[in-house]
Amino acid sequence: MLTFNYYGHACFQLDDGTYKLLFDPFLTGNPLATTNPKDIETDYIFVTHAHSDHIGDAYDILERCNATAIGIPEVTDTVGGEVKFINMNLGGTLNLPFGFVRMVPALHSAGIPGGVPCGYVVGIGGKIIYYAGDTALFSDMKLIGQRDKIDYAILPIGDHYTMGPEDAAKAVEMLDASNVIPVHYNTWDVIKQDPEKFKALVKTATVLIVNPGESLNLDEEQYKRI
Ligand code: NI
Ligand code: MN
Repeated sequence: MLTFNYYGHACFQLDDGTYKLLFDPFLTGNPLATTNPKDIETDYIFVTHAHSDHIGDAYDILERCNATAIGIPEVTDTVGGEVKFINMNLGGTLNLPFGFVRMVPALHSAGIPGGVPCGYVVGIGGKIIYYAGDTALFSDMKLIGQRDKIDYAILPIGDHYTMGPEDAAKAVEMLDASNVIPVHYNTWDVIKQDPEKFKALVKTATVLIVNPGESLNLDEEQYKRI
């Protein structure tokens, strides 16, 4: 079973029952977080860029779990300390024990001089998941959707720092994704959004609204509470 665990803001985990992949682990100081970073177990941490609402608790979790960080070198350098890294860069694909990861562009700032932000396409548990990270809408999303048949797109809808609901709905169309999970909204007033309005704007995919602390079985697309 492949599970999506949502921890609030843009922090979530994919768990295939064997491998746990944690993305943008911002929990300390995250007003929506329902989970203490000390309670998270993971094998990998994927970081999209070095803004504090993404790199967050990466170092502490990496060290405690003896997990491996994946990211762009300039960004993983900011995690610091003696932890395991796999550095990669845009366009690269790695085959890893859980499946594959492909690093794709994002249109944002990196939060660190010299780096660039990224998104990830991940193959795990027979599904393809695209996590956009923080990004504006950009036309090359169409290429990302042509390269891989995206089962689940995880997209920011908060506006202000990233695309908002209208552009995210356009992104879903360009990606030709089957399902979409909105993230990066309602954490603070400046990114307040009604996910139901986003749902109404999306005509080409199923919108799955997941609340912080909830999990989604990506095999059955049904909610279960954690
Ligand atoms: Ni950012
Ligand atoms: Mn952000």
